[in-house]
Amino acid sequence: MRNEETIYLKDYAPAPYRIVSVDMEVTFAPEQCRVRTQLTIEPLPATAPGTPLILDGDELRLTSIAIDGAPLVLSAYEATADSLTLHEPPQRRFVLETDVMVEPEANTKLMGLYRSNGTWCTQCEPEGFRRITYFLDRPDVLATYRVTMIADRTLAPVLLANGNPAGTGDAGDGRHFAVWDDPHPKPAYLFAMVAGDLGVITDSFTTASGKAVDLGIYCEHGKEGECHWAMDSLKRSMAWDERRFGREYDLDVFNIVAVSDFNFGAMENKGLNIFNDKYVLAKAETATDGDFEGIERVIAHEYFHNWSGNRITCRDWFQLCLKEGLTVYRDQEFTSDERSRAVKRIEDVRTLRATQFPEDSGPLAHPPRPDHYREINNFYTATVYEKGAEVVRMLATLLGEAGFRKGMDLYFERHDGDAATIEQFLKVFEDANGVDLEQFKLWYLDAGTPTVEVADSYDEASRTYRLTLTQRTLPTPGQPEKAPRVIPVRFGLVGPNGAPTTWSRVSGDVRDDMVVLTGETTTITFEGVANRPVPSLLRDFSAPVKLVSPLSQEDQLFLARHDSDPFNRWQALQDVAMALMVDAATLGRPWTEASASALADALAETATAPSLDDAFKALALTLPTEASVARTIGVDVDPERIHTVRRALLADIVKRAAPVLEGVYHSLASTEGYAPTAAQNGRRALRNAILRVLVLGGAQGADALAAEQYAHATNMTDRADALEAVVLAWTPDAERLLADFRLHYGNDPLVLDKWLALHARAPDDGVVGRLRAMLADPAFPRNNPNRLRSLVGTFGMSNPAQFARPDGAGFQFVASFVADVDTRNPQVAARALTAFRVWRSFEPGRRSAAEAALRSLEATPGLSRNVADILGRTLAPS
Ligand code: PHE
Ligand code: ZN
Repeated sequence: MRNEETIYLKDYAPAPYRIVSVDMEVTFAPEQCRVRTQLTIEPLPATAPGTPLILDGDELRLTSIAIDGAPLVLSAYEATADSLTLHEPPQRRFVLETDVMVEPEANTKLMGLYRSNGTWCTQCEPEGFRRITYFLDRPDVLATYRVTMIADRTLAPVLLANGNPAGTGDAGDGRHFAVWDDPHPKPAYLFAMVAGDLGVITDSFTTASGKAVDLGIYCEHGKEGECHWAMDSLKRSMAWDERRFGREYDLDVFNIVAVSDFNFGAMENKGLNIFNDKYVLAKAETATDGDFEGIERVIAHEYFHNWSGNRITCRDWFQLCLKEGLTVYRDQEFTSDERSRAVKRIEDVRTLRATQFPEDSGPLAHPPRPDHYREINNFYTATVYEKGAEVVRMLATLLGEAGFRKGMDLYFERHDGDAATIEQFLKVFEDANGVDLEQFKLWYLDAGTPTVEVADSYDEASRTYRLTLTQRTLPTPGQPEKAPRVIPVRFGLVGPNGAPTTWSRVSGDVRDDMVVLTGETTTITFEGVANRPVPSLLRDFSAPVKLVSPLSQEDQLFLARHDSDPFNRWQALQDVAMALMVDAATLGRPWTEASASALADALAETATAPSLDDAFKALALTLPTEASVARTIGVDVDPERIHTVRRALLADIVKRAAPVLEGVYHSLASTEGYAPTAAQNGRRALRNAILRVLVLGGAQGADALAAEQYAHATNMTDRADALEAVVLAWTPDAERLLADFRLHYGNDPLVLDKWLALHARAPDDGVVGRLRAMLADPAFPRNNPNRLRSLVGTFGMSNPAQFARPDGAGFQFVASFVADVDTRNPQVAARALTAFRVWRSFEPGRRSAAEAALRSLEATPGLSRNVADILGRTLAPS
């Protein structure tokens, strides 16, 4: 079957025909919408006469077809639900007119045209446009669009599409119409329409060259007051892209619509971004600091796509990270500039390690630019997004800020209007900087996270310090051999008292504060070094690798106190805690009192250091997660043991540091009015991180402190964080406070998500039973991706000990959920299934329980291609 085929990058060929312009008329009505499309098509010069034209479709029903106004005879074409073939199209420019019917209310896949809370909306990336009309649905087919929307005035007073407004009017029968014109040629995946009865807030932005842009954010009536932070974020994003990258907006209007049912975070459709409402709506009483930060980040991300994604798009879906990796890098830089750079870096690395590292070391590993896929929807991954951003960041690190900007300027100049490739992206940096990026390109082509192993020695007599770095990447599916990569390692040598160590001579490839690894092993010799230094390596996490260093706990704690690089100060504390937990969980060798005390003292000192900012301190006080301990252990993992060990370490820290931590906690109380600023967020983050340590570590009186904070909180951050501490520790208050939370916030779906997600993280043995009961409740919104992800997604990814219960109940729960949801929304199902990517790292009993759950899913008839693809790769022999 055509649908089941694997698609290969090496088979890329342009389509034999171009679609130059699109003129659509869409009539919205309950049950069925009618889509009339006129495509202006022409053969490429090289196309042989008689070459058929095959347009993509998906669940479409054709009701009429004509070329240049003349209806086609049956023998001239073949129409099925998923394709339309013209056997012998004219060998000149012609207009193909089709009429199809689509059923938005029946569309539970949320791809193409669907209805969310009564609003008609679309999602076309990557292959949704073919569910609206027959088309060459591939990103290298760029056309201009004119769209006429017709709908009942009361059902849909608001009619929006891409581009600029080009007229409205009466359409008879209580209906009205609106015309939208998008002058910028775009691929079909950027197409969007919204029709509904929505509220709006408006504003305007004047670009650097003096053009006024009308801004609108649309939402459910009554939620307008929750859109202001999103609007503020949008205006700051527009100004930032001008300042930092010289990129101006290019239409008269920019609209954002918040919808409640959405498979991803948001979508960058040209001039009409459609958002999951969780990334638009916020107010202090119901949204946390994290929610506000998420909104700012995603608004920026989608806006930045206007240049990195829309003006320059992807030639094919293998190039997805061309737009995604680059745009994530851009949104990371935006947040770094708007907030704290060091804190943002640490948070991004935590995300990378939590999401991308496990992907990269398991059965779903793939390069940022894959060379084959069965289902493209399964490649919107942490590797494409987050590792893609790391690769761009390394380019900036290697070329320096000015060299990187020169390359970006050339990229926008040379490729504006193109559907481009990774090769073309790398070429602009080569041309702008006169460098060769051939070896660097491996970062895009190879899967797997390199390990960089460090050895060092100091010779007192010759005052020589030697550093040896060795890189190695383990095999990944389909890639048994790995060549060495270009790895920028930013570093410093820290001397006694924390002062930087100087040297008189150095041999090896060292530039200023950076060693660039290109071969398997690199040795650098520093001469004239007065004392044995402590090396601070991979500063600012200059490459997405695993650093294995022989530093003692004492050296690590020295760095935690003295390193001038904030990232490595944080990393050193993490490493100390990690080593203690890994040893205790694997060797059954608990830490000595001295080593736990040393860590506790360092944490207490960090919490009170006047020179560090609060958000940084909060991150420092957060021990590595259970999942990251599991990943470090790697094989024969027993998640329950890890859970116990982590709690025990927290208890030891609390025993020693509680008085200091409590003091800091109380000193941070505030009566200031709520604002989601970096300073306020940081203060709350630190206070709540301390509360979490105290509660999880079983400090005396901590439960009462948490219950009190919960009761008296004046914002959602403090309330939700107090509840989180209580739930993760499963204190006697947990069930009572969860019930109270439900009572107060159960009517706000986005807050309900927090409640569901907390339930999913409960550590007690009753959790699977409770989650099952919630899902079985007929009132549970069983088609809303946010609700489903909050409950089951969170359970699979963030409750390792219960997901991997030894009796297999956690595995079975997720597997049967996947089978059920797959019948309605395959994308949500496939994503939930990726929780199993770590299954081979478990100890034998859990491993076979996981396999049994996967096998029973495999036996389910009629699995979607999305789920079958993930399942096949997850089970493939390693
Ligand atoms: N392109 C979107 C983004 O990263 C993500 C997305 C993919 C949304 C597929 C919907 C569907 O900004
Ligand atoms: Zn994106």
